[in-house]
Amino acid sequence: MDLENLYLKRQSTREYDPTRQVADEDLLKICKLAKLAPSAVNSQPYILHAVTGDKAKEFAKFVQVLGANRWASACPAFIAVEEGKPAVVERLGQRLAKTEFVPIDIGILSAYIVLATEDMGIQSCIIGMRNEKGIAAFLGLDEKTKFPLVIALGYAKEGYPVREKNRRKFEDNVKLYK
Ligand SMILES: Cc1cc2nc3c(=O)[nH]c(=O)nc-3n(C[C@H](O)[C@H](O)[C@H](O)COP(=O)(O)O)c2cc1C
Repeated sequence: MDLENLYLKRQSTREYDPTRQVADEDLLKICKLAKLAPSAVNSQPYILHAVTGDKAKEFAKFVQVLGANRWASACPAFIAVEEGKPAVVERLGQRLAKTEFVPIDIGILSAYIVLATEDMGIQSCIIGMRNEKGIAAFLGLDEKTKFPLVIALGYAKEGYPVREKNRRKFEDNVKLYK
């Protein structure tokens, strides 16, 4: 798909076809493509935990916090993004630039994930509402492990419309100087 159409077609999908699994090869290919994302000093401070099959059915409850994301019950796969430790040089860069680069790296990674996913004809939704402690316990990791984002993946239910993009006025977000 050409890039402009990909950007227009990618949307947060909140109705999945529970009968269609995402193939493991596709899930791993999405992770492989996402790993091409840029990161500060190429630190790549994250681990992608791809959860599918029966495990995904169990996992859904960790993104159903305070009544949010009920639709996730029908979602056949998730990628939980674990925040890794930045490389020493990234830590140094963060201190010098007085900027936390790790969340920025993870945001860019997530954009790569959802665009690669859509390009493969699979839909997605980035999820910020999540139970990090629950996810850590589920994956057998230390309870302090951070999961800044989870990404839901699956095939949209038949007839799920591609919505018109709802964005602020161009001038609100873009300034041109010359
Ligand atoms: C950091 C982040 C957290 C988000 N968390 C949720 C969430 O918990 N549940 C949800 O349904 N959508 C979530 N979204 C999706 C946004 O609501 C969505 O991207 C936005 O409304 C624009 O719509 P679009 O993605 O369809 O273009 C999140 C998006 C981002 C980038």
